Amino acid sequence: MPSGFTTRSARETRNAGAALAPLLRAGDVIALSGDLGAGKTQLVQGIARGLGVESAVTSPTFNLLMVHRGGLPLYHFDLYRLEHVEELDDIGFYETLESDGVSVIEWGDRFSHALPAAHLLVVIHRRTDDVRDFELVPHGERAGQLASAWVDAVETQGHR
Ligand SMILES: Nc1ncnc2c1ncn2[C@@H]1O[C@H](COP(=O)(O)OP(=O)(O)O)[C@@H](O)[C@H]1O
Ligand SMILES: [Mg+2]
Repeated sequence: MPSGFTTRSARETRNAGAALAPLLRAGDVIALSGDLGAGKTQLVQGIARGLGVESAVTSPTFNLLMVHRGGLPLYHFDLYRLEHVEELDDIGFYETLESDGVSVIEWGDRFSHALPAAHLLVVIHRRTDDVRDFELVPHGERAGQLASAWVDAVETQGHR
């Protein structure tokens, strides 16, 4: 059975992101999949808050990459407008993924062959206006550990 969790508001999604943050370490790659308005950016905002990022996190649609300095650097990609996979070289995509921070990639599934073998894919399903199902699809052992620790953390949070 695939692992995951459900949120019932944007705030709950941000809290879920904040719960992931302390579990992350340099080199982790999180790919986000889901339609426009699914809640990808909301999740990234929560991750940023959990990492201690103070700058505002918005969809970096026109930039492809926004860098935020927190406890760990947060590399926030949005590949929505990316047309050619070669453009990823121009923005230092591959080097960035292997560097000193955590990379979160909105629309990462659009260029799944460009993702590293090890990454956690988060598929966001919009169930109603306010309800989202988060499906965690780990690629690699580390991503599997991250996924189960994250689900535990979100459940613990919900019971507080
Ligand atoms: N459970 C939820 N989780 C995340 N966003 C939600 C939720 N319920 C409603 N929303 C709304 O959905 C929108 C999600 O926007 P955003 O995070 O920018 O989506 P994306 O980056 O996937 O295009 C926001 O307007 C947010 O308030
Ligand atoms: Mg977005």
